[in-house]
Amino acid sequence: MLMQIQENISLRPYNTFGMDAKARYFAAFSSADELLGLNDRISVTGNLPVMILGGGSNILLTKDQEGWVLKNEIRGVQLLHEDPDHIYVRAGAGESWHGLVMYCIERNWAGIENLALIPGCVGAAPMQNIGAYGVELKDVFHSLEALDTKKRSVVTFTLSDCAFGYRDSFFKHSEPGRYVILSVTLKLSKHPVFHVSYGAIKEELEKAGVKAYSIKAIADAVIRIRSSKLPDPAVTGNAGSFFKNPSIPATQFEVLKTAYPEVSGYPAADGTVKVAAGWLIEHSGPDENISWKGYRVGDAGVHPRQALVLVNYGKANGEAIAALASAIQSSVFLKYNIKLEKEVNFY
Ligand code: FAD
Ligand code: EPU
Repeated sequence: MLMQIQENISLRPYNTFGMDAKARYFAAFSSADELLGLNDRISVTGNLPVMILGGGSNILLTKDQEGWVLKNEIRGVQLLHEDPDHIYVRAGAGESWHGLVMYCIERNWAGIENLALIPGCVGAAPMQNIGAYGVELKDVFHSLEALDTKKRSVVTFTLSDCAFGYRDSFFKHSEPGRYVILSVTLKLSKHPVFHVSYGAIKEELEKAGVKAYSIKAIADAVIRIRSSKLPDPAVTGNAGSFFKNPSIPATQFEVLKTAYPEVSGYPAADGTVKVAAGWLIEHSGPDENISWKGYRVGDAGVHPRQALVLVNYGKANGEAIAALASAIQSSVFLKYNIKLEKEVNFY
């Protein structure tokens, strides 16, 4: 099939920050063969960069894209195999992540209910090992298939191949654009284990009068909490948490906690403590008397209910958001001696 290639189009509808950057070449693909066909066309245009796009909910476009933007639209959800305890389900990379979560809940397949309402596509989920409310993709991951665009062959990655970490994976460090994730297979459970200890889930279930837990009730609680805290990208441009929660040595955390008893931190098995970046940002600012939380410069701002989320109120461009992000990083470093690392991918 001959794919439609568009030139010099605005990427505004394709990124949740709502950045009006342009793509020199833009095309969608719905199979590995179509992607290979596009690769042939790409080689004709010379050595231009290639960006793989899912839902555009974890990117910041800081400029017009001089190369190719390829949107993954590989669809399909398939039950591959089941045994007395597990379900193995494969989803095309272009499927909506939240759509997949709802599909599994309807069938009573447990494991991803805490990951409801995370925007974006299935194929991007392994990139940063998406996580929320005490569950990460790695907890239910079985394998994935990716096209190695250099070797032009499909490769299977197992759990250990993916080297998942907190908002991290093998793919974050591999050559940009080399591996295009085609599908992801999850190993879900027929016997739900409810993860309710994180954050406000228990409280939210009590408020809703839920006595007997179910995966549907947990997803509903997660959806309510998320909707109350996080801005809806359809209304206010954003890409979720802009920074990762930083890990610091336990000794440094003790010093911090002595100076600021209200700071939140979560100890990890390796002896480090993960500090709430939202707190660090809320409790610092452009000067001594102003907090970043709710701060706004032009149309670039920090969300008033969640300081970890940077927002575009309308016409901010990627450079303005990037400048605000680096001002936040500098002030947090100056005050707390902690480096905030970006979660969002810059292009
Ligand atoms: P994109 O933004 O399109 O792409 C992200 C990166 O992955 C890019 O580098 C892209 O090149 C690469 N990529 C995309 N698809 C493929 C593919 N098929 N093969 C290879 N590379 C690919 N994240 C969390 O972890 N937890 C949360 O709770 C969470 N909450 C959010 C809330 C809001 C309101 C928003 C806007 C974002 C949130 N995010 C969260 C971030 C985001 O939703 C996830 O990172 C999501 O997985 C991104 O999916 P996407 O399809 O939009 O990826
Ligand atoms: N906090 C503040 N002020 C703020 C925001 C947060 O003080 O403005 C403190 C509070 O003490 C709160 C703590 O930070 O108890 C944690 O806040 P929250 O529960 O909102 O979670 P988070 O650490 O800010 C992380 C993920 C989210 C994920 C939630 C729920 C990262 C970088 N972010 O946010 O993921 O949805 O936990 O599990 O790990 C994303 O990655 O894009 C994302 C939204």
